[in-house]
Amino acid sequence: MELSSIYVHVVLMISFSSFQFITGTTPQEPVSQIFDFVIVGGGTAGCALARRLSDSGEHSVLVLEAGIIPDPDLDVPALALSFLNNPEYSATYYSTPQKNAELENGGIVPFKAGRTLGGSSAVSSMMFNRGHPNDYNTWAEITGDRSWRYENLLKHFQRSENYAGAFPSDQHGRGGPITVSLPEYGPLLNEWLEAGEFLGYPIADPNGPQKISFCPFEYSMQFGRHVSSYTGYLKPVLGSRPNLKVILSAEAKKIIFKDNQAVGVQYRTNINDIPSDSVVFAKKEIILSAGVMESPVLLMKSGIGPKHVLEAAGIPPVKYLNVGQNLQDHIAARIDIVINNRSLAYIEERDLNPRTWKYFNQVGDGPYATYGGFGGQAYISTTGTNIPDIQLSYMGSPGVPGLFPERSNIKMSDSEVATSVFVLVTNPLSRGTLTLNLTDSNSSPVVDFQYLTNPTDMKIMVDGMEMAMKIFENTPQFKQLGARIPQNLFPNCEQFKFRSGSYWECHAKQTATSFFHGAGTCAMGKRDDDPSAVVDSKLRVNGIGGLRVVDASVMPTVTNANLQAAVYAIAEKASDMILQRWRTVQN
Ligand SMILES: Cc1cc2nc3c(=O)[nH]c(=O)nc-3n(C[C@H](O)[C@H](O)[C@H](O)COP(=O)(O)OP(=O)(O)OC[C@H]3O[C@@H](n4cnc5c(N)ncnc54)[C@H](O)[C@@H]3O)c2cc1C
Ligand SMILES: *[C@@H]1O[C@H](CO)[C@@H](O)[C@H](O)[C@H]1NC(C)=O
Ligand SMILES: *[C@@H]1O[C@H](CO)[C@@H](O)[C@H](O)[C@H]1NC(C)=O
Repeated sequence: MELSSIYVHVVLMISFSSFQFITGTTPQEPVSQIFDFVIVGGGTAGCALARRLSDSGEHSVLVLEAGIIPDPDLDVPALALSFLNNPEYSATYYSTPQKNAELENGGIVPFKAGRTLGGSSAVSSMMFNRGHPNDYNTWAEITGDRSWRYENLLKHFQRSENYAGAFPSDQHGRGGPITVSLPEYGPLLNEWLEAGEFLGYPIADPNGPQKISFCPFEYSMQFGRHVSSYTGYLKPVLGSRPNLKVILSAEAKKIIFKDNQAVGVQYRTNINDIPSDSVVFAKKEIILSAGVMESPVLLMKSGIGPKHVLEAAGIPPVKYLNVGQNLQDHIAARIDIVINNRSLAYIEERDLNPRTWKYFNQVGDGPYATYGGFGGQAYISTTGTNIPDIQLSYMGSPGVPGLFPERSNIKMSDSEVATSVFVLVTNPLSRGTLTLNLTDSNSSPVVDFQYLTNPTDMKIMVDGMEMAMKIFENTPQFKQLGARIPQNLFPNCEQFKFRSGSYWECHAKQTATSFFHGAGTCAMGKRDDDPSAVVDSKLRVNGIGGLRVVDASVMPTVTNANLQAAVYAIAEKASDMILQRWRTVQN
């Protein structure tokens, strides 16, 4: 029997925490348990893949997603923040105590990831930056596969994009699922850009391609509302494609192998708090898109991982691979900058009000279109090369509740307000690890980022912090605003001369926190002769048939900007490679 005739219905199971409905079929009807493709994780990459693999109608696609449909309030940037600490929509992974990060909170760095349809793209701060061409050229070098070079990836970036930003050019895509735009509302953005120009930097498109420059943040946003992988890629087709099915609240537990071929996925649904285990089979491929934390966890629990981890956890091995070993992330030190004009800043209690809510709904802009008051960014180099090693993000607000909380110990007058610049090391050399909890492999993985442990990373950070201060102290734009940095915020740094190199290092260690750009835990490399690689350049798990990883974990080196644009390009490219594979081989 033709596989496609097995399920002629749209079978779409949606569970909101309290009820469940299935469209296109009755709940009693047996649900088809075999699909061409099973995608584990309906996140940023997963929703994009689901859309592309189901486009032709030739292949049946199942998405297993651990979370539920995002709350519509997540589309409103200013309201989205309240979901970040809500386990129904986000997961928080606490790092092991770090030596060089977030010491003001005991060195425990919380790393967040979306756990909802759309994944991290649904809860993110929407900043849309491709990274530098050099990032992708490095991947091509590492894998020996030129198709990863920036000029060859460009079409995939473009296909994901519907560009409506301030820098239209042939670098951009139009008509793609992810609308990218620049809201008018951007606290202190004009001052930021003018200060950059004063210091001699060009104002440039951060994606066009990236160069040393100052830029506004552009966002995955349409009419002021969040565009996620769910709202951009999946929602427009969900329910109208008989060959596409999504099961929500479905957590994959284990990959099932027949010899060295991945054939199925065991998963658990938790509907109305009733756990129920099921298995689905894939006729063609299983694709892991569970993100930088959970794709490696699933591989290890299924017997693919480093020998020492599998042995210590007592997991029967399927294949020894370097899973979880190349963990990278972007960490940013925060410098508080006090300015003397409160009206220029975004102050949540003042700026979110019925008038601005009405404006948001009519015009799609204003304070409700901001996620905490970011406006300007910059790509700078501490070494004078033309490849940036620092990204600066300027937050024109006293804080982002639940993310970058307002600092209470800054002494200032009533007319002043604290803003913050985040200094982020874009191409860190430090490498961390993610392993299973060996005493309880079902609990959260053990994540040790080793942030800023490579001395080069720390040097770049300190130099970057010093360069950032020039923006606030050496430009008329910020001098006019009385910009100043408060002293004595960190008791542990009082032994260092204020603003000396060792002071900045101490300041970085106290404040550096994650921007949630984890990458590299299932890194790609050369297929056979690269012991560090988990997947090859076609994203196939080395030595295993029918299994790919497609998400941020395959990046061998993290890109030098926020990750979502790169994840979309990876997913677009992967869908081409997968469809190509099944076009050329008769099944
Ligand atoms: C709060 C926050 C803010 C961010 N801000 C920005 C930003 O402004 N700009 C930017 O470019 N990037 C940003 N990022 C980073 C970016 O969003 C991520 O790097 C990127 O979205 C990761 O995509 P992914 O496909 O690898 O994983 P995800 O999008 O995280 O998708 C993983 C999916 O798998 C699901 N899943 C996990 N385990 C299982 C399982 N066992 N079974 C079934 N499903 C499972 C999850 O629920 C999730 O839907 C931010 C991230 C966060 C968390
Ligand atoms: C603050 O900035 C606004 C907008 O530029 C300006 O109108 C106002 O006069 C400034 N206030 C002070 C106290 O400088
Ligand atoms: C492993 O899990 C156990 C039980 O949940 C917990 O007590 C322990 O702290 C965890 N170990 C690590 C290293 O996180």
